[in-house]
Amino acid sequence: MEKYKTILVTGGAGFIGSNFVKYMLSQHPETTIVNLDALTYAGNLENLTDIEDNPNHIFVKGDICDQDLIPKLFKEYDFDAVVNFAAESHVDRSIENPGIFVSTNVEGTQNLLDNAKKQWTTGKDEEGFPTYRDGVKYLQVSTDEVYGALGKTGMFTETTPLAPNSPYSASKASADLFVRAYHNTFHLPVNITRCSNNYGPYQFPEKLIPLMISNVLELRDLPIYGDGMQIRDWLHVKDHCSGIDTVLQTGKMGEVYNIGGNNEKANIEIINLIMENVKKHLSEGHVEGVNTQPDQITDDLKIHVEDRLGHDRRYAIDNTKITSQLGWEPSYTFENGIAETIDWYLNNLDWMENVKSGGYQEYYDKMYSKK
Ligand code: NAD
Ligand code: TYD
Repeated sequence: MEKYKTILVTGGAGFIGSNFVKYMLSQHPETTIVNLDALTYAGNLENLTDIEDNPNHIFVKGDICDQDLIPKLFKEYDFDAVVNFAAESHVDRSIENPGIFVSTNVEGTQNLLDNAKKQWTTGKDEEGFPTYRDGVKYLQVSTDEVYGALGKTGMFTETTPLAPNSPYSASKASADLFVRAYHNTFHLPVNITRCSNNYGPYQFPEKLIPLMISNVLELRDLPIYGDGMQIRDWLHVKDHCSGIDTVLQTGKMGEVYNIGGNNEKANIEIINLIMENVKKHLSEGHVEGVNTQPDQITDDLKIHVEDRLGHDRRYAIDNTKITSQLGWEPSYTFENGIAETIDWYLNNLDWMENVKSGGYQEYYDKMYSKK
């Protein structure tokens, strides 16, 4: 018997959320997933076409901040778990427009917490704390960026003090503090996961890896922020999904778990690797419908642009807690994961084209407006 009958997954039309919904449907065939997504620019129903007809997947278009819709969904579906991915997720956008990061990432999280608390409360214990139905859990998907930036050495552990530097990471840290407070004040059963940079299929091409793949193919400039020596700790999205599932199934209530794969790379290394890999595919004639010639991919494409304001220099995750206490291990090496990811983008040029042209935004009207 599955531990959870019905799970509310928010943000499940985005990059990690869509991978997670598919992962859960394959791993837990008796669990129903209600996928709530506002379909912002980052939400793409084309990420979910292969599970469109799966009766255990119910898509709802809506906003996690909506104070009428969320209680209605809790009543209608009687969730026994919530996994919150819904967020504004891009640091550069948070520098341009911080306000939306506060409403979605902070207020939206608080709205979900409040409804989980109301719906799951069964009474009070002798100290006056709420008591909850057995087997319920709220899981907040957070980021290592809440810990701030590292120097040349050291790693983030779960006890590293929060020191967010961007409006994005400040909003994620604020959300984490609300989750912590709901556990402390109301004993709500919660976990928080904090993950390093993800890569893999279906990532919106505003983020480093898909953006560089797309630009190399089109012989566009490859914008390197500052000196390109900033370090990120890369994790394949499927390993992130298995890590979240592990915490959902076995995480100790109230605990935070870092999820990372020990793959620190400088941005410039990633860009060089993408250029080499795409060049190899083009020389072997593996990419259909692209006119770019391999010898056109040269270092001239790389341009150093003005650095991101407040740019965090290095992130690195210490994953000892989740590996030693919950037995989770990443399954991908970076070398295999990145090669598979580049292959995926090269084999899914239509997906990329639809995202870049905005065509994917018509998908909802076409597929769902009559349902
Ligand atoms: P994404 O931007 O690809 O997807 C976010 C999804 O949330 C989109 O489908 C969007 O439509 C939806 N959404 C936005 N606002 C909403 C709202 N108000 N109500 C309902 N849905 C809304 O992001 P992602 O990269 O998949 O990240 C998912 C989560 O994981 C985020 O919480 C992010 O902070 C966290 N995270 C991401 C990474 C990473 O490397 N991408 C690393 C660590 C943690
Ligand atoms: P990004 O994918 O935006 O993730 P995050 O900022 O959450 O780590 O960026 C990853 C790194 O790549 C970050 O150091 C910024 C850098 N970067 C560039 O150098 N050029 C680009 O065009 C982008 C999008 C990112």
